[in-house]
Amino acid sequence: MAEPKKITTQKVTGAPASKPASAPPSVAASAAQAPQPAAAPASSKMALELFSIAGSLNSTLDLDFLLQKIGAAAEQLLNSEANAIMLVTDDKKHLFFKVASGGAGSVLKTMKLPIGQGIAGWVAQHLKPEVVNDTRSDKRFAGQFDKASGFITRSLLCVPMLFRGELVGVVEVLNKRSGVYTREDIGLLSSLANLASVAITNTKLIQEQKNFFSHVLELLVGVIESSKPNMEGHPMRSARLSCAIGKALEVEDYVYRMLYYAGLLHDIGYVAFKNPRVLAETGIVRAAEEHHPILSVKILEGIKMLEGAIPMIQHHHERFDGGGYPGKLKGDAIPIGARILGLVEALEELRMLGLRGAELAEKAIQEAKAGSGGRFDPAVVEAAVELLQNPDGIW
Ligand SMILES: [Fe+2]
Ligand SMILES: [Fe+2]
Repeated sequence: MAEPKKITTQKVTGAPASKPASAPPSVAASAAQAPQPAAAPASSKMALELFSIAGSLNSTLDLDFLLQKIGAAAEQLLNSEANAIMLVTDDKKHLFFKVASGGAGSVLKTMKLPIGQGIAGWVAQHLKPEVVNDTRSDKRFAGQFDKASGFITRSLLCVPMLFRGELVGVVEVLNKRSGVYTREDIGLLSSLANLASVAITNTKLIQEQKNFFSHVLELLVGVIESSKPNMEGHPMRSARLSCAIGKALEVEDYVYRMLYYAGLLHDIGYVAFKNPRVLAETGIVRAAEEHHPILSVKILEGIKMLEGAIPMIQHHHERFDGGGYPGKLKGDAIPIGARILGLVEALEELRMLGLRGAELAEKAIQEAKAGSGGRFDPAVVEAAVELLQNPDGIW
């Protein structure tokens, strides 16, 4: 059996590969206040475009798509030949192209502009909009991007993108098709720039939270591995094999995702064996092996993101025939994730006895089949046995 598609790496991540984690709270709500320029033209087409983009901020996490949509709206509403959105680098010294319309976009995306240089650099430095209706008469205009792209810039309007007073980047439209750029145009482009800065800031916040979550998860896995002997690699192997079995059984996406977290964290209760506060809160006087699922639940309950993993963790030592713990649940009353994780846990115990390679796979298949209908769910056994016949890369 090939490596499962959805888990591709040993590294602990915030969510199974290609599965988006739940979006943390965003600042998109503030977009409702953003597109309200005093000088916005009273065109219903423009208003509709702004509302459409504002609506997308709450429903789309694809930043490139959103920024392209904002750039294209700016170009169309301001009757221009081209648009560009440049973002500030992390060191705040340069601007780089995030969006550039036209065929030369890929060339421009390799180029940077120092803050303070050119017209976009001036806007970024002074945090003020700028209109240049004849680039030939403006000394700041260097034309380096025109040379690279083959585009000829005759006029431009550039506005800063700010979020809570901090520079995020600039938005510009180029070559007004008729007439010149006006004060009204500045108001409209500034509104679009506000929407773009909300989209960018949302994405950054989400990435930061994902990054934080995956690091905390990695930290917790390390703590679990140190909680008792022979635990090294157990959380990740449990997550991988549980997800592979879940996939073979075609569990729902949400269950699949929660299986990953349950696999990683199901034994965190061992960490609390010597923690008087957690023991007291669960009413346990002296912690024993059978208490670890309840202690795991005690530690993890309240973490909204893991809500669906909690029943899997709580019941991962139940038996299909009702003779397990802590709830003595029987058959389908045991959550499917717990039935899967329960089998994986039993197979992991064989590994902890020191078995490896073909001998381990053989004993695991024997153990699973022997427990079918008694300790384990027969459907889970069937899926696991098929996987264990060629466990390379899964377990
Ligand atoms: Fe366990
Ligand atoms: Fe375990």
